[in-house]
Amino acid sequence: MMRIDIITVLPELLKSPLSFSIIKRAIEKGLVQIEVHALRDYSTDKHKKVDDYAFSGGAGMVIQVEPVDLAISHLKSKFDYDEIIYTSPDGEIFDQNMANQLSTKKNILILCGHYKGVDHRIREHLITREVSIGNYVLTGGELAAAVITDSIVRLLPGVISDETSALSDSFQDNLLAPPVYTRPAEYKGWKVPDILLSGNTKEIEKWQMEQSIERTKKYRPDLYNKL
Ligand code: 6GU
Repeated sequence: MMRIDIITVLPELLKSPLSFSIIKRAIEKGLVQIEVHALRDYSTDKHKKVDDYAFSGGAGMVIQVEPVDLAISHLKSKFDYDEIIYTSPDGEIFDQNMANQLSTKKNILILCGHYKGVDHRIREHLITREVSIGNYVLTGGELAAAVITDSIVRLLPGVISDETSALSDSFQDNLLAPPVYTRPAEYKGWKVPDILLSGNTKEIEKWQMEQSIERTKKYRPDLYNKL
């Protein structure tokens, strides 16, 4: 079973996104174990403090090296990690390819970034990889850790049923997914394409592929040019 440990100053922010629907079922089925750890639990300070002023001055507080080292050391004594990821806008951009790679690992540890940063020694000595989820800035790495975890877990064998297989996702083949419709076949005069009501599986598959190609060309020319 895959195991994902996440260390954060805001455990509550992470728990909810990983507690519903497909991810919830994956956990219940024993396909993945996800544990969120409060950094505060590893503080040796009497007020459970885990941050302090930057030596360089400036407004924000910086996460201290000791609680992070203690948290990571504790977890490393129990589990062998294939990757120890730090979520940061400085990191390598996360994409489907990285999700696919990470989904083949046994144990992953994610340390959530913090808006003013963490003591750089953490990044120098304790982390194997820095990952960003895109070119914009979040207040912290928790939502990024949730995104990364969600996209990995849905790829694990057995998490998604065959008919909605992760292999047919947008991006797995650098193509956007074709449009889907459900009943009613007509609503306020807005019609479902006739082909989808025809029952002709072969023609429907041909239409879907054409739609995928068309939509990729129109909306994601960057992907289209990689085909
Ligand atoms: Cl991983 N962290 C933060 N704070 N902002 C981000 C990000 C991560 N990825 C994109 N923006």
